[in-house]
Amino acid sequence: MIQKVIVRKPGESFSEGLTTSGLDAPDYITALAQHEQYVQAIRDCGLQVIELHANELYPDSTFVEDVAITTSRFAVLANPAPTIRSHEAKLIEPVIREHFDKIYRIFEPGKLEGGDILKIENRFFVGLTERTNAEGAAQFKHVVEHNGYECEIVEVEHAAFLKQSVTYIGKNTILVCGEFVDHPLFATYDQIVVPQEEAYATNALKINEHLFIPSGYPQTAALLEKAGFTYATLHMSEFQKQDGALTCLSLRF
Ligand code: GLY
Repeated sequence: MIQKVIVRKPGESFSEGLTTSGLDAPDYITALAQHEQYVQAIRDCGLQVIELHANELYPDSTFVEDVAITTSRFAVLANPAPTIRSHEAKLIEPVIREHFDKIYRIFEPGKLEGGDILKIENRFFVGLTERTNAEGAAQFKHVVEHNGYECEIVEVEHAAFLKQSVTYIGKNTILVCGEFVDHPLFATYDQIVVPQEEAYATNALKINEHLFIPSGYPQTAALLEKAGFTYATLHMSEFQKQDGALTCLSLRF
């Protein structure tokens, strides 16, 4: 069971972060409101939320998922490829130390971001992307296998990060789009295929028995309902503009 969640408020510099979305610049006040709604939704799940102050030096630091991987027993400090984001692993380290005795880290020349790590029960999948290289993936695999997990490394050709194209929603089911539809590595899971025009909705957030999807994706919502899933929606427009999705905004353990 997930008991705690770490989030970081977006700073006023949020719009200066990395993005490939091609969308308008985010509106800071709206981003703050959306972030508050996200935090409240997690509190309403009965979880403890550790809310970190905004950090203006690191515009993308609200996307805490990228800089560490947390499990119930240990944490791994990541090493994102962009230099500015690699500093964020140091920024998150003190709070990780408050909550974990067992901490690993990804060392150079290894690169790895949390957005490329998908955990399904006792199994991790690591996506190889522009942010996660083979050395980083190999280091991560070594750590998690040493701790009793299975680990698969998977090439990601089109998505910016693995969980952009596949997330786990419980009941042995993945939400999937694009290159991971009918992918042999995920053959043991039932799949709900998100239509390409709603690809952003593939990144769903599962917190214990609660499932969240971004608002504004009616086809995905209908597919979930048809498959017997209940969900709540959260407004994510301003984070989408900065290449961020639901899972990116929290570390869960
Ligand atoms: N804007 C989030 C990232 O590109 O890392």
